[in-house]
This record gives sequence, C-alpha cells and structure tokens, in this order.
Amino acid sequence: MKRGFDWATYLAAVHRDHPGLTEAIMTRLEADGSNPYRWLARAVSPRARDVLDLACGAGAMVRELEQPGRRLIGLDLSEHELAVATERSQAPFVCADARRLPFADDSLDAVVSALGRW
Ligand SMILES: C[S@@+](CC[C@H](N)C(=O)[O-])C[C@H]1O[C@@H](n2cnc3c(N)ncnc32)[C@H](O)[C@@H]1O
Repeated sequence: MKRGFDWATYLAAVHRDHPGLTEAIMTRLEADGSNPYRWLARAVSPRARDVLDLACGAGAMVRELEQPGRRLIGLDLSEHELAVATERSQAPFVCADARRLPFADDSLDAVVSALGRW
C-alpha cells in the first residue's frame, strides 16, 4: 500500500479534473420535488440579505438561494469549480480559503455550506 497519501492534494485534483461533479451527483438525489440543496436552503431565513456559500463548488447553493434583494456570494478554493459556477450564475464568486475568510466580522446574515470540508 502506498504510504503518505495526501488526501488534500487528491481532492484538489478531483475538483480540477471534474468541476461540477458534486453538484451533478447531488442533484440526482431528487425525490418528492426536493434534493439536498433545496433541503439546506430551507434553513436560511427569507430575511437573510447577505449570504455566503462556503466551499460553493459549482454554485448549486448560490443558485438555490437566489431571491430578490438578496446578495449572495460563493467562496471556494478551486478556481476550476468557480469557473463552472461563474458560467451558471451572475453572483460574485471568490477564490479563497475557508480558513482565512476575506470578510469583515458581522458582515453576513447567513453562511451555508453543502458538503464543505476544510
Ligand atoms: C464536496 S465539494 C462541495 C461543493 C458544493 N458545496 C456542492 O455541494 O456542490 C467540496 C468543495 O470544498 C472546496 N474546498 C475544499 N477545501 C476548501 C477550503 N479550504 N476553502 C474553500 N473551499 C474548499 C472544494 O474545492 C470543493 O469545491
């Protein structure tokens, strides 16, 4: 067995080579008109105006949360995922590390993350 497997490097390569794959899989889990993204979106108050999707990938949650008057922003470490997200939504997307958020304290009303891990 190969020792010292670098999981983080492997995952970065997965997102480089298969951007949008998580969303493609998760949206197949559709039943009774819902899916995991719709389920998570229900936890966000309609009054939440500034909303961050952390580790947004191809932006499925950002699109799920769009509503008039809401300012959404997606953040992800993978520029490849963000390239797909940008094709699918007009929302701003930021390439950054979730461990060092480029936002001021108390500047957001809600933060969501679907399958985020960092
Ligand atoms: C399983 S995918 C989920 C993507 C998306 N939330 C979804 O459900 O479709 C995990 C995402 O976390 C991102 N990620 C991993 N480490 C990160 C970090 N330190 N900061 C920001 N994003 C990170 C990956 O690039 C990937 O897009």
